[in-house]
Amino acid sequence: MNIILASAEVSPFAKLGGLGDIASSLPLEWVKYGQTPIVIMPKYKDINIPDWGFHPTNLTLFVPMGWWTEYARLWEGRLPGTNVPVYLVENNDYFDRHGIYGDPHEFIDNDRRLIFFCRSIFEAAKALSFTPDIIHAHDFHTAFTMAFLKTHYKNDFRFLRTAGVYTVHNLAFQGWFDPVRALDYAGYGMKAFFHGSWFEHFGKVNAMKAGIMFADKITTVSPTYSKEIRTPSFSEGMQDVLNSRGDDLIGILNGVNYNEWSPEIDDFLFAKYFTGNTEVKNFNKMEYLREYGITEYDNPELPLIGMVSRLTEQKGIDILNEIIEYYLSNNIFRFTLLGTGERRYEDYFNYLRWKYPKLALTNIGYNSRKSHLIIASSDYLLMPSKFEPCGLTQMYAIRYGTIPIVRSTGGLADTVEEYNPESFSGNGFLFDNFTSHDFATAINNALTFYKQKPHWDNLQQNAMAKDFSSSHNALDYLKVFKWALEKVRLP
Ligand code: ADP
Ligand code: GLC
Repeated sequence: MNIILASAEVSPFAKLGGLGDIASSLPLEWVKYGQTPIVIMPKYKDINIPDWGFHPTNLTLFVPMGWWTEYARLWEGRLPGTNVPVYLVENNDYFDRHGIYGDPHEFIDNDRRLIFFCRSIFEAAKALSFTPDIIHAHDFHTAFTMAFLKTHYKNDFRFLRTAGVYTVHNLAFQGWFDPVRALDYAGYGMKAFFHGSWFEHFGKVNAMKAGIMFADKITTVSPTYSKEIRTPSFSEGMQDVLNSRGDDLIGILNGVNYNEWSPEIDDFLFAKYFTGNTEVKNFNKMEYLREYGITEYDNPELPLIGMVSRLTEQKGIDILNEIIEYYLSNNIFRFTLLGTGERRYEDYFNYLRWKYPKLALTNIGYNSRKSHLIIASSDYLLMPSKFEPCGLTQMYAIRYGTIPIVRSTGGLADTVEEYNPESFSGNGFLFDNFTSHDFATAINNALTFYKQKPHWDNLQQNAMAKDFSSSHNALDYLKVFKWALEKVRLP
């Protein structure tokens, strides 16, 4: 199959969260299954063009916007270490600025930027003479491709037999836009805006809704989230939209690119380790602590609990902050965090570092090396998410023998299994209610097993034996693609 994967984030070029990881790991696997994917993303200013070996093509795109035309140039590169082509859409008015979605606040022309990008994907396919079987779009940023496929390009010979598959990574971000502006840019005009139209949602244009309604098939990133989002508590107001497409919606658990996330081959670590190598894992912890000036006099053997996260309400920072000082002031564990996000949370973690310099090793910033070190060096990883479509960080932790303590929601419920000390089964600890009380109960329970043989060994071994490889989920996507093609190619 010829597949266009269109995404606003693609790791390692530009990434803020798990979307970037998935956008690069899927095509890597599809190639192994004999498919022909290409990846298309914007040429952001922050992409390191020479380091990643991108070069300009001589292809200029004429991108229709409303009643006028704009231009883009295509750049070409490869996903590192592979032959998978990556095309960057260059338009300096839209993308030659720091940040992906904002810096730090949302750009006010995000509607125009993303509609331009979505339209340029079709023009890129034409310029490259690439006839896609599938256009695979991700989250609201590329949702308009699903609409364009079924409207502006529906009679274009190149897309006559193309199916659109739309993946929801996070319903919390839907792309709410002013109808006059957005529908003008998208070339529909206000005649497409009426109560119940596929663009309209509560009086605004909603890119996510358009993606869901126009797609041939819709996926989301874990089986549990695919059920949760059909209910008002998790749907962010989208339950009716989602249920209207219920037969075409399926949850596919995200997978991990183990070439990047495996302790046996991870170059970021102080020392690589295998299952059962608990001393080497501990060595990583000691070296990590040393970077913060923790010595043998500072009780380095305290449990180290880590977190790598966007700092948003979704991630449960509020219930963490209600209890963390109790643990730190009583010397119960040491905490380390890496994250960026909302200012109020960043301020709080800076305060914690100031108040407990030897116990709260918190870092505000974005740093790949540190994210790997925290996952490898911590004894436990926290993800008390309010909701979690899938979550990759807990899967990375599991691979590194770092025991997750998570809220039982979305993909966390699908990947973390409660440890049972009687049967020695399970790889982590879960709690149900989104309260600091239940969270603390799970932490306390998890801490009772800390380095307690044989439980600790079992926990780590069970964790490291789990396989969440992206090859499984890439195959599941291919099945959905075939299913989508059956729909557009009915005899
Ligand atoms: P989400 O996509 O909701 O942020 P995931 O767990 O699916 O959550 O993915 C998060 C990804 O982003 C992981 O690869 C994680 O390592 C990475 N990440 C998050 N924050 C940072 C940070 N501050 N520095 C480096 N990597 C980060
Ligand atoms: C979103 C979700 C996260 C998921 C990621 C990749 O950002 O918040 O749970 O793992 O997308 O699908």
